[in-house]
Amino acid sequence: MSTTPLRLGLIGAGPRGIDHIKGALHTGLYRFIAAADLAPERLAKLYEAAKPEHAYDDYKKMLAAHRGQLDVVHLCTQPTLRTPAIRAAAEAGVKALVVEKPMALDYAEAQALERISREAGMLLVVNHQKRGMKEWLALKEAVSSGKLGKVTMLRATCYSNLLGQGTHMFDMAWHILGEPEPKWIVGGCEDRLSLPETHPAPRNALALVEFDGGARGIFCMSEDCPVYPHATNPYVYYNLDVIGTEGRAEVVINMHYRRWDREGRLAEAFPVKWGGENQLNAQATLSSDVARALREPGFKHPQRGESALVSFGLIEAVCRAAQRGTVVTWPIEPAENALAAWSRRKPQAEKKEPAHV
Ligand SMILES: NC(=O)c1ccc[n+]([C@@H]2O[C@H](COP(=O)([O-])OP(=O)(O)OC[C@H]3O[C@@H](n4cnc5c(N)ncnc54)[C@H](O)[C@@H]3O)[C@@H](O)[C@H]2O)c1
Repeated sequence: MSTTPLRLGLIGAGPRGIDHIKGALHTGLYRFIAAADLAPERLAKLYEAAKPEHAYDDYKKMLAAHRGQLDVVHLCTQPTLRTPAIRAAAEAGVKALVVEKPMALDYAEAQALERISREAGMLLVVNHQKRGMKEWLALKEAVSSGKLGKVTMLRATCYSNLLGQGTHMFDMAWHILGEPEPKWIVGGCEDRLSLPETHPAPRNALALVEFDGGARGIFCMSEDCPVYPHATNPYVYYNLDVIGTEGRAEVVINMHYRRWDREGRLAEAFPVKWGGENQLNAQATLSSDVARALREPGFKHPQRGESALVSFGLIEAVCRAAQRGTVVTWPIEPAENALAAWSRRKPQAEKKEPAHV
């Protein structure tokens, strides 16, 4: 197997772009060839963390200058830039493209991106890197080893909307359950949008999903959800609780991983901290899997576009269920695009709380 470093490019040198590059370089498998950002101060900040051999003020210039010479490109812009950049990367002969979540702004775009990449022979990977953090690895192990018995129920809550954190939450829940096919979804969404400029989606959404094998998941994705007192940043409010016939385990970000046996005795526990080494290692795992997928025929990247279409499909299904007021069965029709219809609605004025009398 080749040990020549893979040639790495970056589009978007914001906080996420820098984290991606640190993770990739941590593996020792990459050489950082080129970066592009519209803002010179963002490139200057990137240089403090890692030095690309070339820098550009736009991604099109970078891809044109390195046509056929970049193996892996990370797209870390806001989701308002996805299709043109992914199409241009495929045309420039990039072999793998890692895109930040959410992979797209609506389901039609998500499906198109997976198709464009597949037809161009470019591996598309969606950055659901949380899967590689130690607390989630522990939760996954508790389920796959059978320590929890047969999983019957999963409860997930997060701050932010379907495109902000919901994509992570559906991906994580589905992955932890062993990636069973969803069976049906009921859901409700509020009319008001949140993050209309970058991640437009219903401000509050609630879903019940049944998966093959019988486990049911309750998901609450809410810009208004109560934040634990420990949370200094609302985005660290992210909580998954898995209940099985032999026990229960939960992750609360910035608090703990805990597992209890069927009698309710604490069987395993450790504190959980967002960021730092944990984040670096997770990002590095995702990048070493990209290298492996490019070099090892038959190895499928766990976060490939095809798998990300399941979590995006669940986002879409919640919006359809809310729109129709009835259950949505899986597989969902590819032609509908309910999230887009939802996010095209005019943001409504803030509702006034009724005065107490
Ligand atoms: N996976 C996670 O844990 C996680 C956490 C936070 C954010 N995110 C996601 O990461 C993405 C980016 O987040 P961020 O906070 O780094 O965003 P950001 O807005 O701070 O940075 C994006 C950068 O892209 C650059 N850019 C825009 N258009 C460009 C172009 N045409 N060419 C080159 N550069 C261009 C901007 O100048 C900016 O510096 C979002 O999709 C967000 O949802 C993921």
